[in-house]
Amino acid sequence: MAEVSNENHFGNWSIPNLQKINVQELYTRQRQSLRSWFEFFNTSKFKTPLNIGTATRRLLANVEYFQTNYFIVIIILSIYCVITTPSLLFVLLAMGAGSYLVTIKNREKQLAFMGHQIPLPQQYAAVMALCIPLLIIVGAGSAIFWILGASVFVIALHAVFHQTPNQDAFGLQMQEMASSSDYIIEVRIDVLKALKIFGITATALTAVGLSAYYIHQRRQNSRRVILQDEVKHVLEPFELSDEQLRRVMANLNTQMTNGLKSNDSENNDLAMFPTFVNFRPNGQESGEYLVVDLGGSNFRVSHVTIEGRNRLRLKNKIFLIPHSLLLGEGEKLFDYIAECLQRFIDDNSLATHKPADYKFDLAFTFSFPCTQTSLSQATLVSWTKGFSCTGVVGNDVVLLLQNAIDRRQTLKVQVVALVNDTVGTLMACSSIYRDCRVGVILGTGTNACYFENLDNIPKCTGEWNQSTKQMVINTEWGALGKHGCLDFIRTKIDRELDESSLTPNEQVFEKMISALYLGEIVRLIIIDLVQSSILFPGRMQKAPSRACDYNIFLSLRGSFYAKHVADIECDTTEDLSVTASILTSIGIHDPTYDDCYIIREVCKTVSLRAAKLAAAVIAVVVNRVNMPSVTVGVDGTLFRHHVRFRKNLIRTMSRLVPRTHRLVLSEDGSSKGSALVAAVNRHTQETLTST
Ligand code: GLC
Repeated sequence: MAEVSNENHFGNWSIPNLQKINVQELYTRQRQSLRSWFEFFNTSKFKTPLNIGTATRRLLANVEYFQTNYFIVIIILSIYCVITTPSLLFVLLAMGAGSYLVTIKNREKQLAFMGHQIPLPQQYAAVMALCIPLLIIVGAGSAIFWILGASVFVIALHAVFHQTPNQDAFGLQMQEMASSSDYIIEVRIDVLKALKIFGITATALTAVGLSAYYIHQRRQNSRRVILQDEVKHVLEPFELSDEQLRRVMANLNTQMTNGLKSNDSENNDLAMFPTFVNFRPNGQESGEYLVVDLGGSNFRVSHVTIEGRNRLRLKNKIFLIPHSLLLGEGEKLFDYIAECLQRFIDDNSLATHKPADYKFDLAFTFSFPCTQTSLSQATLVSWTKGFSCTGVVGNDVVLLLQNAIDRRQTLKVQVVALVNDTVGTLMACSSIYRDCRVGVILGTGTNACYFENLDNIPKCTGEWNQSTKQMVINTEWGALGKHGCLDFIRTKIDRELDESSLTPNEQVFEKMISALYLGEIVRLIIIDLVQSSILFPGRMQKAPSRACDYNIFLSLRGSFYAKHVADIECDTTEDLSVTASILTSIGIHDPTYDDCYIIREVCKTVSLRAAKLAAAVIAVVVNRVNMPSVTVGVDGTLFRHHVRFRKNLIRTMSRLVPRTHRLVLSEDGSSKGSALVAAVNRHTQETLTST
């Protein structure tokens, strides 16, 4: 038990003594007054004080007794604060470096100014003074607040709950001691002095902190004013209320019902294609399959081995499609696909050790609107997402691919199924989640499919196993709005984007939310803001050499990507440096803080609108499925990589969907799911032939 010595305590706290002792002496004394950490943390000593009087007395006595330990606690908290605020650490290092330089210089010769020698302490003071503005800028004020607050809290908590040393020594409560001991009175007087010093220092630091905080807030607020006054007006049409979302939901629901009734594309927005997938994987599937996946940002060839009970092994390769092929002759596109397929099989030696008459079953994940009359017959209705090859629309794409494969004599492959990417996603997820009934793509394009009761699909004709009661319907919801049902929320920017696209008045909804268009919406808003001199005011005139780069960005369609939107809206750096570097990389050099702030606001608004709209349409399908709990399998870059989009989507859905639901990311869903479709198909064929 440490005895509380009179001399020890008075010596350390009295001001005259402090002035006399040198640093070394002070250090030695403080070290001597350091209490053992075991005593400091001894949990058996922590007791709730009886009343406020006891608490106050414990506080005073413990602050005195554990002063050095508390000092170390403050240092640790300060180090933590500085380390976790890199900019502050930087300025402090600069301050240290400056002081070190001064020391070195003075070793050679004392510094003089206008003939007067400047003493070393004053030089140090000058270095510190020079660093004060930097400290304010990097938020030292808030750091000081934090250190003060955290220290006071931790120390007070410890001091109030830790029994005083005297309670150990004499087994007495502090109240008794206070009435009987001269020692306590002396300690109190001395501690009062200490508190006075502490109070003055704390007030001074608080004043500095408050001023820094005030200046910082003023700067921030003045920036926000610009936004409230001018930009808000431009962004307002992109803000959607829940009431508007519910109207979108009602319209989609009507369009879905209409689309299930007939193929009247003159009046219906949605095609609601029957997919001839009327089964769910049951874990009995097996075998090896090839999958060709065309339709998103990439073209992918996969080899999927299904080993039963959801065990799938996947090997794949992404191939780039030259842009010219997307807009050229369809036959060339299919020849290119067959060529890539051949390369993939050869590179992975997939055909070795196979019997001479062996043919691979191939599932074709083709993510464009197709009318199907069976699993392996699909006529392309129209291209979407920037594809526009000739000679494909109106033709059976399965046949086009099969012909291209057969033109390469060495390629032994049979195309057995055409699967939309939404269907692949749904199949892959429903092999894992029993209540998965919906597949959604939120990527380059957007679409959904779901299990619908056959009774609700009067238009469904064709070949399928009639024993089941449901079939997967590919909604093609990207086309919603074709006949004006979204006009009440479409902005002038949406119309502008649509008119300048390859497919005006097609995929109206898709153009409002999918990754292929999000960046372009932001770019068009930026152009609008530039034209009204809200963004980059006078910049191009001031730097004509850069005007060219600005103009490239302003005139080049598609030069701002959804990835930029995602990265900018997540930029939480104080100086918006992430935004600044993205803007610089696309030709907007040296953007100001205000430019970055406004552009981040634009990105946030456009992405929030997309997330809300996506939530509204998913909500409709989930409600339609009408099960107590529904899992939705989701794939696509927006959902996978765009963190804020995903959060906003989930948040909005929880308001719009009354039933239990969850959204799960489907890993390689479209390829794995398409292989599962091919596997179920093979199993069905085999059963048919054996009966
Ligand atoms: C487009 C296609 C659709 C596809 C979606 C997602 O909307 O028309 O078939 O599912 O993009 O890739």
